[in-house]
Amino acid sequence: MKLLITGGAGFIGSNFIRYILKKYPARNASHSNAGGPDYHIINLDLLTYAGNPENLKDIESNPNYKFVHGDICDRKLVDSLMPEIDLIVHFAAESHVDRSILNSTDFIRTNIIGTHTLLESAKNNGLKRFHHISTDEVFGSLELNWPSFNEKTPYDPRSPYSASKAASDHLVRTYFHTFGLPITISNCSNNYGPYQFPEKFIPLIITNLLENKKIPLYGDGLNVRDWLYVEDHCAAIDLIIHNGRIGETYCIGGRSEKTNLEIAQKILKLMDRKNDQIEYVADRPGHDKRYSIDFSKIQEKLEWQPQTSFADGLQKTIEWYKNNPSWWKNIKSGEYQKYYAKQYGKNGL
Ligand code: NAD
Ligand code: TYD
Repeated sequence: MKLLITGGAGFIGSNFIRYILKKYPARNASHSNAGGPDYHIINLDLLTYAGNPENLKDIESNPNYKFVHGDICDRKLVDSLMPEIDLIVHFAAESHVDRSILNSTDFIRTNIIGTHTLLESAKNNGLKRFHHISTDEVFGSLELNWPSFNEKTPYDPRSPYSASKAASDHLVRTYFHTFGLPITISNCSNNYGPYQFPEKFIPLIITNLLENKKIPLYGDGLNVRDWLYVEDHCAAIDLIIHNGRIGETYCIGGRSEKTNLEIAQKILKLMDRKNDQIEYVADRPGHDKRYSIDFSKIQEKLEWQPQTSFADGLQKTIEWYKNNPSWWKNIKSGEYQKYYAKQYGKNGL
C-alpha cells in the first residue's frame, strides 16, 4: 500500500507518519506485523515556516519512508507522484488563524488551490481513497449553551483560515458526487501534543514559561476549545482510511472543553509557576467563542473515542517540550529555517 501524505513535516502529519510506521512496520521485520500490511509513505511537503524535517529525524532512514520537497499546487510534480499512490491523506495547509488575519493569500493558495490540484490529479488515477483532513472551525462559533457540532451542522466559517478550509471541504465533496472520487473527510477539534509549532496556544504557553516569559491571553480568556491529544487524532484517521465509508464525513473531538484561562492556569500549576505570568492582551478580531464536537458517529460506526485524558496528555506534552529544548529553541530563533534553506534551497522557506 502506497500512501501519499501531504504536509507530513508539520505537527499532525509528522505524528501521523510516525504512528503509521510504528503500527504497521515493514513486513519483513521480525515483529508482530510480519504478514500484515506494508505501508510505503511518500511525504510531500513544501517546508513552509511550519514544516520541519526535524519532526521526522527518527524515521528518515526507514526504508518505507521517502520525503519529497515540493508544493501541492505544483500539478506536474503531483501528477508525477500520483501513479505510484493508492491512498492520499491530505494534511498540507496553512493552519494558523492569526496568520490568516494578517495575510490570507497563502491560505487561499494552499488550502483551496492546493486541494483542487490534488483532486484534479487524483481524479483519473484509480486512487483507492482520498482522505481530507479538516477542522471543526468550518462550522463557525457556538454560544456556551448551544449543542456541539456534528456532521450535519451547516458551515459558517468566520476567519480566512476556516473559510479556506470550508472551501476545500466543499471541493472534496464535489469530486465524490461529480466524479466518483473515493473520498472521506474528517473535521477535528483543536489538537495538542509533541511537535506542535510554538505559535499555537498550548506550546506557546509551555515554551514561554520555560523562557520565563508571560502568557498572552486574548480578550477575557473565556473562549472555549475542545482539546484532543494528537495521537488520538492519528488513531481516528487510521480507522477512517481503513474502515470509513466512502463519501462520508466524520467529526472528531476530545470531549474536553476548556476555556483558555483554564488551560493557562492548569499549565502554570503543572509547571509550578504563578498566575501573575498571565498577561491579558487585545482580543483576536472575530474570535470564535466556542468549539465543541459531538463525535457519536465515529464512536458508533468505527468504535473510536479519545484514549488520552486531558490531564495525561498535557503532562506528556509539557514533558516533551521540557525534554526537547533544542527543537523549539531552533524554531523560536529561526535557526531551523536557515539550516534547511541550505539543504533544500530557498523555495518555501
Ligand atoms: P502545520 O501548520 O503544523 O503543518 C502544515 C504542513 O503543511 C507543514 O509541514 C507545511 O510545510 C506544509 N505545507 C504548507 N503549505 C504547503 C504546500 N503548498 N505544499 C506542500 N506542503 C505544504 O499544521 P497542522 O497543525 O499539522 O495541521 C494539519 C492539518 O490538520 C491542516 O489541514 C489543518 O487544517 C488540520 N487541523 C489542524 C488542527 C490543529 O489543532 N492543529 C485541528 C483540526 C484540523
Ligand atoms: P490557537 O492555538 O491559535 O487555535 P485556534 O484559534 O485555531 O483554535 O488558539 C487557541 C485559543 O487560544 C484561541 O481561542 C485563541 C487563544 N490564544 C490566546 O489566548 N493567546 C495566544 O497567544 C494564542 C496563540 C491563542
